[in-house]
Order: sequence, then C-alpha cells, then structure tokens
Amino acid sequence: MKYPLMRNNILAEDLRPVIDLLSTQDPRLTSGPKVEEFENKWSEWLGVKYSLFVNSGSSSNLLAVALLKERFPEGGKIIVPAFTWSSDISSVFWMGFEPLFVDISLDTLGLDGKQVIENLEKYNDVRAVFLTHAQGINGLDEKLSRYLDSHEIYLIEDVCESHGTKLKDGRKAGSRGHTSCFSFYYAHHMSTIEGGMVCTNDLDSYEALRMLRSHGMSREAKLESTKDFWSRNYPDLNPQFIFTRPAFNVRNTEIGAIIGLQQLKRLDSAIKKRAFNFNKFLDLIPDVFFKDFQLDGQSNYAFNLILREPDPELMIRLEEGLTASEIEYRKGSAGGGNQMRQPYVKDMFSFSDDFISRVTPITDHIHKYGLYIGNFPDLKESEIEWLSSVLHSLI
Ligand SMILES: Cc1ncc(COP(=O)(O)O)c(C=O)c1O
Repeated sequence: MKYPLMRNNILAEDLRPVIDLLSTQDPRLTSGPKVEEFENKWSEWLGVKYSLFVNSGSSSNLLAVALLKERFPEGGKIIVPAFTWSSDISSVFWMGFEPLFVDISLDTLGLDGKQVIENLEKYNDVRAVFLTHAQGINGLDEKLSRYLDSHEIYLIEDVCESHGTKLKDGRKAGSRGHTSCFSFYYAHHMSTIEGGMVCTNDLDSYEALRMLRSHGMSREAKLESTKDFWSRNYPDLNPQFIFTRPAFNVRNTEIGAIIGLQQLKRLDSAIKKRAFNFNKFLDLIPDVFFKDFQLDGQSNYAFNLILREPDPELMIRLEEGLTASEIEYRKGSAGGGNQMRQPYVKDMFSFSDDFISRVTPITDHIHKYGLYIGNFPDLKESEIEWLSSVLHSLI
C-alpha cells in the first residue's frame, strides 16, 4: 500500500524505554507504577481528576456503561448516534439497556442536538446520552450541552477518535461528561499498541470503575476507606479476595503505559500538524466533497471525504481509483457507517431499509457516499497535493 491509513505511529524512541525495562532482572510487566504515572499524566493533560488505563477503547466503553448499569439496574434507554463504533452500541446491549438511535449533523458528525432533546422530552426512561466526538470534531453542541446540564442528564463522551478536540467552552472533549472514553489503538491520535482510558471527575465512580476493571475486587479500590468498608461488611472473607460486583479484567500493562507516556509527549504537536494537514487537504480537494465542517478546536486524525450529493457512479469510480492508486480507505467513514445497517443491530430490531433511511438520513448518506483516508503527523505537503490530484483525476 503506497498510502496506508496510518504510518509510523509508534517510533523507536517509544520502544527504547520498553527495551530498557525488559532488560532488567525480573521486570514487573503487569499493571504497576508506570500505569499509575500514565493515568496521572493523562488526567492532567485532559483536565479531569481520574483516569484508568484499560486494554482498549471498547473496554472503556464497556466500563462506562457498566457504571451506568450500577446506577440504573432496571435498565432503560440510552441515546446513541447511528454514526459511531460498534463497541458503543454493543456495550449498551450487553449492559441490558436499549439503544435509541439518533441522527447526526453533517458539519459536526456528532449527535443532532435538536433530535436528542426531542427524544429526551418524548421518553421518560432515557438514562443517558452516549455521544461520540467523531473524527476529531467537537460533537457536543452548546444548546444540547446546556439542556443536559439543566436537566441533570447523564452524559458519556466517546472521544476514542478525537483526543484533544476542544469543546466550545475551551475545555477538552472528554472532560465534560460524567465519564469519557479514549482509544489508543494503532491508527488513533496516539497508540499503546492496544489500549484505552476511561475518565471521570467523580470519586465514587472512579472507585467503582477501578473495581469493574479488575474482577470487581475491593483491593483494587484506591481509598483505604473503600477497602475497609468491604472488609468490615464481609469479615468472613479474605480482604485480598472480596469480589464486590460482577466485573471484568480489562487492565493494561506496564509496556503499554511506557509507550503511552512517550506518545503523550508528542500528542499536542501531532494534533497541530494533523489539523494543518486537514485544512490544506480541504483547500485542495474538488468541491464535490463536503467541506463545511465545524473545525474550531478540531483534532483531525483522518481525511473525511463525503460527497455533497448522492452519486453512486462517482462513488464506484472513487473506490476503484483509490484502490488502483494504492490509497487505503474505509468506506462509510468512522465505524463502517450507519450502525443501524449492521447485522448486530438491524437483525435484532428487524429494522427495514426504509425505516433506517427515514430516521438517520445524514448517517445513511455518509454510509453510502462517505469514506476516509489516513492523516498522519509525518505527512508531507507534497503527499497531500498528490492525494488531491488523484481525487481530481477521478471526478
Ligand atoms: C468512536 C470509537 N469508539 C470506540 C472505539 C473502540 O476502540 P478500540 O479499537 O481501542 O477498542 C473506536 C475504535 O476505533 C472508535 O472509533
């Protein structure tokens, strides 16, 4: 592949401290001091009180929804965008909630705030809004943000593909919701090989998340008072083995944390470079592509190509032309397009094609006429010019 979705995301300088650790006698590789250091530095960078390093962005989704399940054991609805990744919706299913699909706005790729509010007013069993900041664009509009605040509605932010995106108030996406989720998969803004972070400002939630991450064990809690609580209430059990709730093991390792600490040093400069790349790309590409994204505070990681108008023949030409030029792409853009069209959703609810197009016309348009290609920090301007010339030749 001449032009992959991502290249050089993990550098030799990231691996050197890993090699140093591996070269010591009897190194500790499971979760330890480096994981804690990475979590603290991440919290500082993001502007939240607590972060937990987990083994993927999907695991961070799962923990965020598992935490919500502790608050609402009876279940209920969770508002989700149709334009997101499968693990967001799967977490909702596995935790016994019902996903309520809402369309997005084309300029933010995030939930359409007006439709969210309409649904919140229509149903009285909506437990949370689980929004996705897709492809580095702020997905939380101001009106929705104020509505959620004034109605005290629980918000989960999925920032797995938008590290460093700024909200309208200048804070970073992921510092606003009750919990937020990040992914450090290879092609994202930074990578720990596999990995993710779940973040919150709420101490009780943090304690619960620590236990949810690690078999539900009370000894995983941070506070002695939490551990004491469980030991006092279960004096017949060994304090090392008190399993407080049904839970998971989704911890990460010292190796991932060391790579994460290295990557974090470059994150802000990589974000700037990618934003520069995306702006240049948008300037150069043909006008048949949608360009009116709301890019204030953007943290792009992929060049999004969405046809302004439906044009199945042009779409085929584009796909064939990109393949012929060895440019890797993903059709449907983030997450494979409209989640309502995927078998794990469509078959479960027996959604008809007509229903899906009616409820989520914008996501559906991107599903059919959208794709993305890579945007990485070491991209040269001449490569952006080449990409644009390939696109022009296909129109
Ligand atoms: C929006 C979103 N959420 C969750 C995930 C899952 O992250 P991971 O691949 O680390 O499990 C992704 C992955 O690409 C994503 O884009």
